Amino acid sequence: MNGEPTQQRLLTQLPEWRALHAHYAEMQSLSLRQLFAGDLRRGETFIAEAAGLYLDYSKHRVTQETLKLLIALAEARGLRGRIEAMFRGEKINRTENRAVLHVALRAPKGVHMQVDGRDVVPEVHAMLERMSRFSERLRSGSWRGHSGKRIRHVINIGLGGSDLGPEMACEALRHCSQRDLDLRFVSNADGTAFAEAVRNLSPEETLFIVCSKTFTTAETLSNARLARAWCLEALGDEQSIQRHFVAVTANAKAAVEFGMAENNLFDMWDWIGGRYSMDSAIGLSLMIAIGADHFQAMLGGFRAMDEHFSSTPFERNLPVIMGLLSVWYVNFFNVGTWAVLPYDEYLKYFPAYLQQLAMESNGKHVTQDGMGLDYQSSPIVWGERGTNGQHSFYQLLHQGTRLVPCDFIGFCRSLNPLSNQHALLMANMFAQSEALAFGRDAQQLRKAGVPQQQIPYRVCDGNRPSSTILCESLTPAILGALVALYEHSVFTQGVIWDLNSFDQWGVELGKLLAGNLLPELEQSSEPTLGHDSSTNALIRRYRRFRQSPARTG
Ligand code: F6P
Repeated sequence: MNGEPTQQRLLTQLPEWRALHAHYAEMQSLSLRQLFAGDLRRGETFIAEAAGLYLDYSKHRVTQETLKLLIALAEARGLRGRIEAMFRGEKINRTENRAVLHVALRAPKGVHMQVDGRDVVPEVHAMLERMSRFSERLRSGSWRGHSGKRIRHVINIGLGGSDLGPEMACEALRHCSQRDLDLRFVSNADGTAFAEAVRNLSPEETLFIVCSKTFTTAETLSNARLARAWCLEALGDEQSIQRHFVAVTANAKAAVEFGMAENNLFDMWDWIGGRYSMDSAIGLSLMIAIGADHFQAMLGGFRAMDEHFSSTPFERNLPVIMGLLSVWYVNFFNVGTWAVLPYDEYLKYFPAYLQQLAMESNGKHVTQDGMGLDYQSSPIVWGERGTNGQHSFYQLLHQGTRLVPCDFIGFCRSLNPLSNQHALLMANMFAQSEALAFGRDAQQLRKAGVPQQQIPYRVCDGNRPSSTILCESLTPAILGALVALYEHSVFTQGVIWDLNSFDQWGVELGKLLAGNLLPELEQSSEPTLGHDSSTNALIRRYRRFRQSPARTG
């Protein structure tokens, strides 16, 4: 079938869409206060549970009827068939003619998943075994640097999916990491990033992992060249590269041309998208940090969520519910942004990771057939860990003029239980979703003795929706389940919006222009500039500053 979706009717012409529009007209004036008052058990019924994740979506402006209509829309869009097509390895990434099979990365041995008639699961397990052997050698100290010293620092060089996932997960699972191995990440094409990452490090004790699916990303290659020069300057010998560099890539030829030893290459496959790759060899730095057993436990969490997604009826299916809620707010309430608010210090990079996952996947303006959308696609995803965000932007969440749905993510047990801090943290998380949903009206304020003149400023209208995802503790398995939850929620949204969630053509134009512009910044003679007047003036100003002596102080 080659991943061809059946000819889709335009979303906004579907009767299911129109039914949701009519329903929205009734729902927009209904408040969360009314919904909770009308159903005393709402907090226990609008929930779903899977893979150790408890999802409370009762504080959303939905009724059973809303869910029924959203699910009818999902069915009309063929969501079930699209999920099956992805799991079957069909080439659902049509613009790049590729299968999308990140679910194979966590498939157990013995399960068959095929791409072009080839079962890829044995390759995945062979790769996991190689990664496991390599990371064990590093963790035990048996892999030595060129001068015989033990490797103490591992630096991952990559960008986007080759950086955000591993960095987020290394931080999230720091609790079970081997503490005498220091993991660092260099991504930005800014000398500062590299200089600060290697400051005070010895090349003799440092290993670089160059992660790039394509091995063409200019920033990554530039950082890899810096790393190579930094090592060679200290170690003096080309041979040393073999002990201090490994690469993860689908482009072995380019990596070898770059100077990587062939047996230091870890494969990546073209059926894995960059932003869906943290559980592939792209996660090598993570496996080095936490060890193969914890990595396997994380894969188990991914798998549990995959199984839930592919087999559970939509009414109880966490990723489907979350994806449909996003559609409900984006397309009917005209919501433009979505906040992700993890109440766990270890999840501090989770919002940044989700930004690429959601926005690079569904930040699209045409359907699978290339027709312009007449509805909105991905919301802007952003966020910060609690409680830090509370003292920064939550004011807008509570009293701003925009509706911003939120995902709260919290844990019942702290991995660092100190004093009563965890109760304090979680009291804040529960209080925030309560305050957003129910607010505080003038009458309550008056009763609490607030002076009349202050009342307008202090009223919180409430009716601001949120989900809460509650788990026991942040284990590798829970992290895997959480990431898979968002992967599949993004997939669900992409199916409703009829997008190809797996290409990223929009990123290419900027890359192309930067490539053209670079010589104009670097050449010694004054370039003839053919850009718009703003870009021309900026380039001239940049060149003029560079030519004048640097100011100090
Ligand atoms: O620029 C976008 C992108 O292609 C992402 O999709 C990808 O994760 C990132 O660049 C890095 O790509 P690579 O792993 O090929 O260096």
